[in-house]
This record gives sequence, structure tokens and C-alpha cells, in this order.
Amino acid sequence: MTTAHQQHVLPSYLNPDDLGPWGVYLQQIDRVTPHLGSLSRWVETLKRPKRILTVDVPIERDDGTISHYEGYRVQHNMSRGPGKGGVRFHQDVTLSEVMALSAWMTVKNAAVNVPYGGAKGGIRVDPKTLSRGELQRLTRRYTSEISLIIGPNKDIPAPDVNTNEQVMAWMMDSYAMIEGNLSTGVVTGKPISLGGSLGRREATGRGVFVVGREAAAQRGVAIEGARVAIQGFGNVGGVAATMFADAGAKVIAVQDHTGTVVNEGGLDIAQLHKHVAEAGSVTGFPGAEAFLDRDAFWGIESDILIPAALEQQITAENAPRIRTKIILEGANGPTTPEADDILTDKDVLIVPDVLANAGGVTVSYFEWVQDFSSFFWSEDEINARLTHIMQDAFKSVWAVSQEKKVTLRTATFILACTRVLQAREVRGLYP
Ligand SMILES: NC(=O)c1ccc[n+]([C@@H]2O[C@H](COP(=O)([O-])OP(=O)(O)OC[C@H]3O[C@@H](n4cnc5c(N)ncnc54)[C@H](O)[C@@H]3O)[C@@H](O)[C@H]2O)c1
Repeated sequence: MTTAHQQHVLPSYLNPDDLGPWGVYLQQIDRVTPHLGSLSRWVETLKRPKRILTVDVPIERDDGTISHYEGYRVQHNMSRGPGKGGVRFHQDVTLSEVMALSAWMTVKNAAVNVPYGGAKGGIRVDPKTLSRGELQRLTRRYTSEISLIIGPNKDIPAPDVNTNEQVMAWMMDSYAMIEGNLSTGVVTGKPISLGGSLGRREATGRGVFVVGREAAAQRGVAIEGARVAIQGFGNVGGVAATMFADAGAKVIAVQDHTGTVVNEGGLDIAQLHKHVAEAGSVTGFPGAEAFLDRDAFWGIESDILIPAALEQQITAENAPRIRTKIILEGANGPTTPEADDILTDKDVLIVPDVLANAGGVTVSYFEWVQDFSSFFWSEDEINARLTHIMQDAFKSVWAVSQEKKVTLRTATFILACTRVLQAREVRGLYP
């Protein structure tokens, strides 16, 4: 197989022997390029981020020593609007990962047609090793370092893995101190008391459910009684589990970082949430019939499988064992291109991350709009608008996939990249 670095002119800051998630993204762009017609002359625009900022983030530790951390903000493309994308605090964050996540934001925002480009940020840190005070100092210093390029009309960060409402509140406050005015729209995913939006916490899981319902209808799978298996029981997986269970599906297996709980009759999701809140993980849940190890999860037969944890979980190694009809990618980048091909050959319908988990950024967009107008909507209004946008996006992607005879991933990329490159073409190149 040709590797991404053999086909692409790579910038000097990447290691051609280990492209990481950025290499996965480049392969996805290769698959869409033949479908872009005359716009393909602009495709190189998508293969390099517009702007990369690497920052040193020093903090004074509680014991008086000084620690330095590596931070990033990558703005992949801003042809259609300001940058938008989360901030991840994780010990394994790399430039390649932040670049890929920023590019997937470009595609995602265009796929649901919200007026944003794509961006992402991160700090290479394990936040569990920091006290609350240290975490606050880290967040504020990082915000100050990237304040050169963020802003309500430039680039709007949001939470991602290991960042939350509190981190967003500190980011907003730091930006307000630096700028000398209160700009609530500089970040989304804020607490409700600071201009956050109702429905934001549940938005990604809700969006996964809405597109899942559409995909199930296309596949002739009834939600009532459907067997659902979920990897990840956090913000995305936990909410999706509740919504599928409320709609009458049987959530037969849930896996988190400690293991897998199974109940063939359907796990009691409300009780599982209570258990996780108290015990910190699904392990030991009294309502489970069986506890399996991490790898056995992939062999469980289901109608709908939802990866909602980390990148690169479904691989060429476990894809042959997966027996399901529909995969809803709640996580970003959970399926490698090799696994994608294996599953497509097995007639599994994969609803890609750039469509399936776009509910979060859609309600972030609502939050930003509400902040600008200082006029806040009801939760019912937010959920209705979210459902409408996700259903429309699914229908458009489905139509492209049928017309061009391509997977839903390539169809989403066709729709999104066409929108991005049309904007680029009509704007023209500066100067
Ligand atoms: N939160 C959002 O709004 C949002 C939006 C779009 C995409 N995503 C993506 O969804 C994914 C999950 O995000 P989240 O916000 O739910 O995170 P989270 O931290 O709330 O939950 C993560 C879950 O994954 C589990 N997990 C971690 N490592 C695991 C492993 N090795 N094996 C099995 N399970 C493991 C954890 O136990 C936890 O249950 C990430 O890829 C994120 O980028 C999140």
C-alpha cells in the first residue's frame, strides 16, 4: 500500500516515517480528491494547516518548582469563517494529532454548514498530575500565549478530552483580562452562568442518536429492541446510551477504560450512570451479567456499535471480528482507513465522526450566536434546531453517497470539501 508520505509533499516539521493521525487525514483527502472536479486544483489548501502556533507553557508548581509544558493551537482552514475547535489536555498530545483534529473540524463544520473554519488546541500534560490551582495557572498561561490568534471573530476554542466548563470559564476570564473587555463569545462550552448554552452538554450524544435513527431507518433496523454496544461512557457515550435506551433500544454492552459490562437483556442505563458517578468506572456494576476484558468487546454481536472513546480503536486487527450493521462514530478518528475498508466490504454502514459527532459544535455555534445577541433560547428550541440540522446533514450526505456510490465518509468529505474550496475559490488568493 502507498503510504501518505510517498504521495504528498510534506512540510519539514513532520516526521515522514511517523505521520500519526495527520497521515490518516491525508489518506481521507486522497479518497475525496477525484470527486472534486475543477475545485481539485485547490486541494493542496486542505493538506496543510493555515497556521500553527507552538507555545511553551511554564507554571509554578505548588511545591515551588517550575514545570514547562508543550502547547499548540492549529488553525487548519478559515475560508468559511473563524476557526472553531476544542482544547485537549492529554499526555499523548502531538502536533500531528492536533493538526488532524483541526482538519476534521474544518470538514465537520462544513458538513453541517455552520459558518466556521477548523481549529484545535492542546497541551501535552496529564491533568491528573496537577492540583486545581496548577491546572488553573496552566490554563491561564496557555490562554495568554494563544491570545494572539484567538478571539470571538478569529478562533473560538471549546472543551475536548480532559477539559470542561471550568477550564472554559478560566479561558474566558483570562482573555477578558488581557483584552480589557468581557467577550463571552471567545470560547464555547461555558457554564450556563457565564453565557453557556442549555443543551450543550448533551449535544454530541444527542446528535449521535439523531443520525443513528436516520441510518437505522435506511438500513431497516428498528430502534425499538435494537442491540447497541458502546465504547466510552463519558460525555458522548453516556448521553448516547441514555437516548438509545429511552427510545427502546437494548444497550447490551458498555466499555470504559477499565473493562466491559454486558447484559443481553439490556443494561439499566440510569443505574449504570449512578454506579459510574459513585465508583468512577463501569467495573463492578451489579446490573451486569458478565464482565469482559477490553478486547472481547469487539466480538459482541450488535445492530449498532458506537465507538465514543479515543482515536484509532477499530483497526485491521479487530475489524474482521466485528459483527454489527451500523457504526456511529461518536469519537474523533476511531476507525483506521484499513478497518474502514474491511468493514465496508462486510456491508457495515459507517456514519463517520465528521457527521455523527457534529452535534457538539452545532450547539457551540448556537451558544456563540446567543452570546453575540445576549438573547438566550429555551432548551426545547435548541434541541429542535439541533435535530433539524443533523437530520438535514444526514440526508444530504446520504444523497451524495447514493449518487456517487461512495461510503458515507467519502460523501461527507465531498460535500464539506466542496463547500470549503468553493469559498476559497470565490474569495481568491491574497494578495
Ligand atoms: N464532548 C464533546 O462534545 C465531543 C464532541 C465531538 C467529539 N468528541 C469526541 O468523543 C470522544 C469522547 O469524548 P468525551 O467528551 O465523551 O470524553 P470523556 O472524557 O467524557 O469520556 C471518555 C470515555 O472513554 C473511556 N475510555 C478512555 N480510554 C478508554 C480506553 N482505552 N478503552 C475504552 N474506553 C476508554 C473513558 O472511561 C470514558 O468513559 C473523543 O474522541 C472526543 O474527541 C467529543
